[in-house]
Parts: sequence; structure tokens; C-alpha cells
Amino acid sequence: MPSIANGFALANGVTIPCIGLGTWQVPDDNGLVNVIHNAIELGYRHIDTAHIYGNERSVGKAVRTCGLPRNELFVTSKLWNTDRGYKSALDAFNRTMDLLDIEYLDLYLMHWPAARGEAMTWQSINSGTWRAFEDIYASGRVRAIGVSNFLVHHLVPLLARAKIAPMVNQLEFHPGYMQQPTVNFCKQRGIQVTAWSPLGRGALIRHPLLTEIAAKYNVTVSQLALRWCLQHGIAALPKSLNIEHQRTNSELFHFHIAPEDMQRLDSMPQCCFSGLDPDHVTF
Ligand SMILES: NC(=O)c1ccc[n+]([C@@H]2O[C@H](COP(=O)([O-])OP(=O)(O)OC[C@H]3O[C@@H](n4cnc5c(N)ncnc54)[C@H](OP(=O)(O)O)[C@@H]3O)[C@@H](O)[C@H]2O)c1
Repeated sequence: MPSIANGFALANGVTIPCIGLGTWQVPDDNGLVNVIHNAIELGYRHIDTAHIYGNERSVGKAVRTCGLPRNELFVTSKLWNTDRGYKSALDAFNRTMDLLDIEYLDLYLMHWPAARGEAMTWQSINSGTWRAFEDIYASGRVRAIGVSNFLVHHLVPLLARAKIAPMVNQLEFHPGYMQQPTVNFCKQRGIQVTAWSPLGRGALIRHPLLTEIAAKYNVTVSQLALRWCLQHGIAALPKSLNIEHQRTNSELFHFHIAPEDMQRLDSMPQCCFSGLDPDHVTF
């Protein structure tokens, strides 16, 4: 994989670039437009937003004004939890597209499974929402559909009722929090995993084991953590507002982590977990 614009083929043949720029907690203003333009200049081709981030307008503006043809970029957005259900999801998708003001979306994700406080209804809520996703996909306004934060017990009932299987599952994934059962299940079912908080929201940067292994390869901890995702076949979505960090996070192809070091990272005790368990989140 020679550059961050190259990627992984989804089940429907669409390619998702292997590194995307995260935009969580980045305000909806020209600062974000500039951050995205800088990233695109460095070779980033994938921007990850969500309706709840409140910044789809600036993401869309950055995409429209960056000077690249639309088909060279990959834009992901996500349906927020209060918009679940068939009709609400269709309406929410239209709002997202109005804010982005781009012709089509590359990937639309159900942000979290319905689960907490919905003991009797969560499966039918997820399945109604997914029906809307299938209809949006059929309309051609999105090139791929998927989910986020779905664990195996959320995926099984969804897959049982789906006409089209999710193409992506976006999960928290980084050294110290691998979610192995869900990742293995997704791999077996041809669902591409993408990694949110691949740097543990920055908390991994000073981790002693990562620092030691990164020094061996003469790379930064962020490069090591992102390369580790790629070697697991997982696309990663680091966020950085800092152009030098963006650059570092894009230079991942001049080294290879040896199997014994992959193993050491894989077997780290749990670390830097966000605490966001999909069955217990309160939003
Ligand atoms: N689907 C979901 O439920 C979900 C949940 C959370 C996040 N996400 C997505 O995943 C993206 C990434 O996750 P995240 O934003 O939580 O955290 P992250 O990417 O793991 O970490 C971001 C933090 O790391 C710092 N950083 C980045 N590169 C660095 C470098 N080379 N050296 C030192 N520090 C560095 C950033 O600071 P600087 O800006 O100073 O570089 C920032 O504070 C989000 O932005 C969002 O798009 C999705």
C-alpha cells in the first residue's frame, strides 16, 4: 500500500482510503476548512464526519473548494441516535446532504446501535434504520453503507434481516483496545473495520511500550499505532489539527512492524479505552 490514498476494497468493490482525517470536536468554521485543505495537500483523501459533530457544513465546503475532483475524495458521515428508525433516518440523511451540499456521500454509517434502555425494541429499531440505509444506497446518493460501534450481538440480528450487509463497521481500535471478537467476526463476514481514536485520543502518545517499539523503527508513536492498524487490515481515522502531526500521520509506508512487535502490541493490557461501551452509553 504505497500511500494513504490507497485503501481497502469494500464488499461492493468501492475502495476506502486507508487513512482518513477525523473531525470529532472540531468546530464548524473556516478553521476546519483550512485543516482539511492542509490534509488534502498532504495526500489525505478521506474525511470522517458525523451529524452529531455539527461540522458537516464546513466539511462539505472544504470538499467543494479544495480543487480536487469530487471522485478523488472519500467522505463519511453518520446518522445520529435520535434519528434512528426508517422515516427519521431518511429525513436525517437529507439534512446531512443539505449541510454537506455535495452531490453524493461515499459512506453513511449508523453511529451507534440502539441498545441501552431499548430492551424490547432495539433489534427492530436497528432493522428499520437499516432498511432506510438500504433504500438510500439503492437511490445512488451514497456509495457504501455501514455501521459503527456494533458488537457481534448487534450485528447478528441486523445481518439476519438485512438485504445488503453493512460494508463497514467503525470501531474504537488501537493498541490496548482491540475488540478482537468483533473484529474477527467482521473479517469473517467481509465487513471492513475502520478504527476510531486510533491514537487513543492522544493518550497513547506517551505509552512506554509504544515509545520503546517506535524508537526501534525510528518512527513516532503515532506512526507506529497507525501502521499497526494497517497491518491488521484496518483503515484508521486519526484526528489532528496540527499540520506537522498530519504529515507524520501520513508517512507510514517506509517501515514494517515485525511479527514479534505486532504480537507485543496485540497482547498489551487494556489501555486508553474511551469508556464508551455501546450497550451502556447514555446518549
Ligand atoms: N464512530 C464513533 O463513535 C467515533 C467516536 C470517536 C471518534 N470517531 C472518529 O475518529 C476520529 C479520531 O478519533 P479521536 O479524535 O477521538 O482521537 P485520535 O485520533 O485517537 O487522537 C486525536 C488526538 O491525538 C493528537 N495527535 C494526533 N496526531 C498526533 C501526533 N502525530 N503526535 C501527537 N499527537 C497527535 C491530536 O492532537 P493535535 O490536533 O494537536 O495533533 C488529538 O489530541 C474522530 O475525530 C472521529 O472522526 C468516531
